[in-house]
Amino acid sequence: MRWQLNRRVEPDRRPSYSRPMILSRFTDRNAIVTGAASGIGRATALRLFEEGASVVACDVNADALAGLLEAAEGIEGAGTITTAVLDVSSEDEVKHVVAAAVGRMGSLHVVVNAAGVLSFHHAHEHSLAEWNRLVAINLTGTFLMCRESIPHLLATRGNVVNLASTSAHRGQPWAAGYAATKGGILAMTKTMAVDYAAQRIRFNTISPGAIDTPITNSFSLPEGADPKLLDRVTPAGRFGTPEGIAAAIAFVASDEGRHMNGSDIVIDGGATA
Ligand SMILES: NC(=O)c1ccc[n+]([C@@H]2O[C@H](COP(=O)([O-])OP(=O)(O)OC[C@H]3O[C@@H](n4cnc5c(N)ncnc54)[C@H](O)[C@@H]3O)[C@@H](O)[C@H]2O)c1
Repeated sequence: MRWQLNRRVEPDRRPSYSRPMILSRFTDRNAIVTGAASGIGRATALRLFEEGASVVACDVNADALAGLLEAAEGIEGAGTITTAVLDVSSEDEVKHVVAAAVGRMGSLHVVVNAAGVLSFHHAHEHSLAEWNRLVAINLTGTFLMCRESIPHLLATRGNVVNLASTSAHRGQPWAAGYAATKGGILAMTKTMAVDYAAQRIRFNTISPGAIDTPITNSFSLPEGADPKLLDRVTPAGRFGTPEGIAAAIAFVASDEGRHMNGSDIVIDGGATA
């Protein structure tokens, strides 16, 4: 069954979301953002670029990356924004793209891992192939990006922001596979935070609830699923915006967030309150 979320309330785009001034916390900073062709990754790539960073925006979707560059044309950034087609689940591709990005930019200060996929299944019907796909992209992809970036981040005392999810914090219906990957990202990130604290590399996560992006716009519910259970993730039908998540990521990744390490910020409109 194909299911379109029934939005009782539009995403919160009240004027208070508009920023009174453009900050420049990433001037002379270099960043890699995965999942940058869409949603949260795209909003983050544009936000870091707008704040002065040079950004290598990576995604498996080459066509959508072209759209990101068009959107960036309207922004006056102090740095540069370039794209790289990357499947984060491929060890060879991650090694190549991280090395090439650092070669192009000269150094690396920030990595944001926003590439991700979501699917819903009753646990007893969850195929092993789909479980492996979720793990390969969400969890292994995040691990590979961290592993390949750490040697470069050691040189700059840089930091990583990984996208977890509220599904890592409380039960989300039909999401055994997806939630397992997000719980893994949360645990892995905290572990890396401790591992590298002495070398002053920071690792943090953001745990969004329901955000208005393509991942939540259209998905399949398993046969017989009760759609009312979706109310657990969208209190009062309210969705957040990718720009709101990007703003939190930018804070954590900037010097203003320098005392954050192994932290997780939940942004969910009260879903887990
Ligand atoms: N939107 C939400 O409600 C929400 C909630 C919690 C967590 N998240 C997480 O935030 C992250 C971003 O999600 P989004 O909402 O922006 O979704 P999105 O679908 O808009 O963006 C995800 C991007 O990841 C890319 N991608 C998929 N597989 C890839 C691969 N193998 N290699 C490289 N890129 C790949 C897609 O092409 C897409 O551009 C994901 O990790 C998601 O799990 C989203």
